[in-house]
Amino acid sequence: MDYKALLQEAMNAYRNAYVPYSKFSVGAALLDDKGVVHHGCNVENAAYGPTNCAERTAVFRAIADGCRPGSFKAIAVVGDTDDPIVPCGVCRQVLAELCGLDMPIILGNLKGEMRETTMRELLPFAFVPSHLDEARSHDGRGKP
Ligand code: THU
Repeated sequence: MDYKALLQEAMNAYRNAYVPYSKFSVGAALLDDKGVVHHGCNVENAAYGPTNCAERTAVFRAIADGCRPGSFKAIAVVGDTDDPIVPCGVCRQVLAELCGLDMPIILGNLKGEMRETTMRELLPFAFVPSHLDEARSHDGRGKP
């Protein structure tokens, strides 16, 4: 599947966004290694904090459906922004861990503009799982 088609899949998810508070819809489409597309949209909440972004909805959904972390091929994200949308900081952290630093991230907007990037570019100096192995002590108090 080419990236334009993946953005179109993200556009399909965009239409399902539940955004009564921000009125700002976002759609995502995550391509797995079998060619299956996992869709995500943002889902808001009256308590605001529980809101889930489109990107995390797609990734969590794929993991719940049995996809292995690190096995994904690309994610497309679309929103109604002047320039192609960019993922929030929380989503960057989640994508870095579950999609890896070098998976293509395809960003788009409703004007049909498209930008390709990676988490290595969007989240430099990322905190990743291997950092947890570098602790000198695991007594929980940081003492050697
Ligand atoms: N949002 C996303 O779903 N993805 C992004 O990349 C940026 C922000 C959502 C969260 C919230 O529902 C709305 O957009 C406004 O911040």
